[in-house]
Amino acid sequence: MSNGPIPLSKALASFDALWSPRVVTRVNDYDVRIAKVEGEHVWHVHDDTDEFFLVLDGELRISLREPDAERTVLLPQGTAFTVPRGTEHKPHAPFGAAILMFEPSGTLTVGDRHDEVPDHVDATTGHMLGI
Ligand code: NI
Repeated sequence: MSNGPIPLSKALASFDALWSPRVVTRVNDYDVRIAKVEGEHVWHVHDDTDEFFLVLDGELRISLREPDAERTVLLPQGTAFTVPRGTEHKPHAPFGAAILMFEPSGTLTVGDRHDEVPDHVDATTGHMLGI
């Protein structure tokens, strides 16, 4: 892992895979991950951790199944949002986006419980950034 400054533009340019997060750095026992996304992820839930999103480019949408209803939050570039632990959610980005996530190392992209994972979604705890 780099011990120098990490230009996120260079980090994003170093891979093309969608829905396949790269670990940029670690903060204590948390990962800072970046991902390129387009289309739909999968409904899933993290039982034991919140999940932080920051939209670096484009627009991310996150559908949430809350106790009373389902809703979708729209997150334009520069917007932060935290999905609370235990809340079923599905990120999607019809027009594409680049996002940053902050969550405990070892957190699976598809959570602890999930719908059937489509081929275009990488079920991973993140890949090390190759720069
Ligand atoms: Ni999640």
